[in-house]
Amino acid sequence: MNKITIAIDGFSSTGKSTVAKRLAKTLGYVFVDSGAMYRAVTLYALQNGFIEKDCFDQDQLVDQLNNINISFKFNEDLGFAELFLNGENVEKEIRTLEVSQFVSQIATVSEVRKQLVKQQQNFGKDKGVVMDGRDIGTVVFPDAELKLFMTASAERRAKRRYIELIERGDDVVYDDVLENVKTRDYIDSTREDSPLMKAEDAIEIDNSNLTLEEQFEKVLNLALEKI
Ligand code: C5P
Repeated sequence: MNKITIAIDGFSSTGKSTVAKRLAKTLGYVFVDSGAMYRAVTLYALQNGFIEKDCFDQDQLVDQLNNINISFKFNEDLGFAELFLNGENVEKEIRTLEVSQFVSQIATVSEVRKQLVKQQQNFGKDKGVVMDGRDIGTVVFPDAELKLFMTASAERRAKRRYIELIERGDDVVYDDVLENVKTRDYIDSTREDSPLMKAEDAIEIDNSNLTLEEQFEKVLNLALEKI
């Protein structure tokens, strides 16, 4: 079978990673959660005191970029790759609301983007990859054979994210999660470098009223048409 590149972009918490992960597993492709990489850089900035209160020291972060090593290791039990920051598994730490509150600011920094995009392109150089993010179809893999753009109402997305955070034991308030989803959408869509937008040739999927199963079936059929 022909190996292709599948780019899945869209707003925060649209379930991109869930569908991308399952699609990769079904097709025997590599799955890469590019948002996790921006989250890892943010975690590093928080751990090293580059972010204090609402301000972050961009110069210090850029100076330290070469000391940030991000890798993925496949976890057989979970069936997907987990992110390691400088050799440490930080899958849980990168998903907190605190990281979510700063990640979009960090993702505006061009030097950060340049470094991560290079690594992402390297992950996908042999095709057979499903990558989700904000600029995958527009910047990382503009030649991807299949590009999807996922949307859903902010309230629907915040509700899903809130349930996810509560289920893993985080002490969060729904209104804060909704506020974070809206703020990230705004920063991601209006930043200068690689703003979140639908690639011209991307297929839009509004999953507000789709079950996970319906959504997956739709995406799998689109992929099979291209392979
Ligand atoms: O996908 P996730 O919501 O985990 O991404 C976290 C943040 O990382 C996004 O809100 C966005 O600011 C940034 N991001 C990005 N480009 C990507 C993936 C994520 O700017 N390709």
